[in-house]
Amino acid sequence: MDNIRIVGGATLAGTVRISGSKNAALPILAAALLADGEHVFRNVPNLRDVDTMTKLLERLGANAVYRDGRVEVSLSGSLDPTAPYDLVKQMRASVLVLGPLVARCGRAIVSLPGGCAIGARPIDQHLKGLSAMGAEVELTHGYVEVTVPGGRLRGSDIALDFPTHTGTENLMCAAVLAKGRTTINNAAREPEVEELARVLNKMGARIEGAGTSAIAIEGVDALHPIDHAIIPDRIEAGTFMVAAAATAGNLFLEGIGFEPLEAVIVKLREAGATVEREGNGIRVVGARPIYPTDVITQPHPGFPTDMQAQFMVLMSLAEGTSRITETVFENRFMHVSELNRMGANIQVNARTATVHGVKRLEGAEVMATDLRASASLVVAGLIAEGTTDVRRVYHLDRGYDQFEMKLAPLGATIERVPGNA
Ligand code: EPZ
Repeated sequence: MDNIRIVGGATLAGTVRISGSKNAALPILAAALLADGEHVFRNVPNLRDVDTMTKLLERLGANAVYRDGRVEVSLSGSLDPTAPYDLVKQMRASVLVLGPLVARCGRAIVSLPGGCAIGARPIDQHLKGLSAMGAEVELTHGYVEVTVPGGRLRGSDIALDFPTHTGTENLMCAAVLAKGRTTINNAAREPEVEELARVLNKMGARIEGAGTSAIAIEGVDALHPIDHAIIPDRIEAGTFMVAAAATAGNLFLEGIGFEPLEAVIVKLREAGATVEREGNGIRVVGARPIYPTDVITQPHPGFPTDMQAQFMVLMSLAEGTSRITETVFENRFMHVSELNRMGANIQVNARTATVHGVKRLEGAEVMATDLRASASLVVAGLIAEGTTDVRRVYHLDRGYDQFEMKLAPLGATIERVPGNA
């Protein structure tokens, strides 16, 4: 397993190009299963999770090839709607093939994703929605087996108990080929949900209301393949914005708009950073002192849970105390113990972390536990005195496209050290 070694103290400056969105690419690649023919998806980030999804599509009977930022997916009708444990356990977002397979094949057998480091992450809402549309759901031997009597789902009114992000995406994909009209109430409003609806409508679906909490889908009989460029990754962008603020740097983030990051921008400004629109991107200028501010993570358009760990690093150097409350996942503070080993002063009580700002962080050997925690440890290494070794960076590679290769030209002293070195 590779490590990433950082020598802290750099002030980041320059331009960074934001890659395509992981959390848009994954449901879109899964949605390709809904239409035979040749799909081309552009601006796809070079990530382990994308690689896992293309392998899963191949296992299901599609042909999927990643080359130079593009994924070409071609289907010719015959699919084996079984997503096996060995792939699903690598990436719980594999569950995103469930909706498309049930819509396309009238059945699916998908390994239950199981929990991960940040929480139990059940899929009860996904399954409740499919049942409402006429599917029969059986949990057996660690798999969920979904079958549709008569082969075609029927439109239904679905009310989600929680605006689940991939749950909304799965049910949208299931509904586009159903017979009749489906409504999804209390739907997730993330930009990636909107992007998926754009892609499905481009394929011939009839979806309205994506991006709001009430989505309506008129089922159609068939969809057609498309050529589409994926939106930029707002969480990668947010991570670089925090890195600019934390290092008192001056970064231009190319190819990202304000809208998907409003909640993060508000908090960065409260912390004292300057964040402005500029050309086709965003300019972030860090400042000292860093002011403390409180954060509560919420489903979009609230402060994204995927930015919680990174923002905590910024608050660890603030002049004062901040409270960070994680309301989305039940166990998403594993970066706290590693940050405290670097000299941060953070106490966790249930869902709230109290961050007492300190003068400096000190480089240390730290362990990455999940995707965003690993990014936060790299940002901490940038501002710590001395050398930080972040271990188990395969977590990072799941969701960041060559993170250290993007940071080095901005002034960071950072390198990837081959595993066990
Ligand atoms: C998506 O996960 C993202 N993953 C996550 O990004 C992101 O943190 C999360 O949405 C919130 O935006 C992808 O898009 C691939 P949820 P998802 O369903 O869909 C509970 C990253 O770092 N819940 O909105 O799994 C669940 O346990 C990843 O890129 C149920 O109880 O999130 C959790 O506590 C991490 N039952 C909460 O809702 C369900 O059926 C949020 O889950 C579904 C969810």
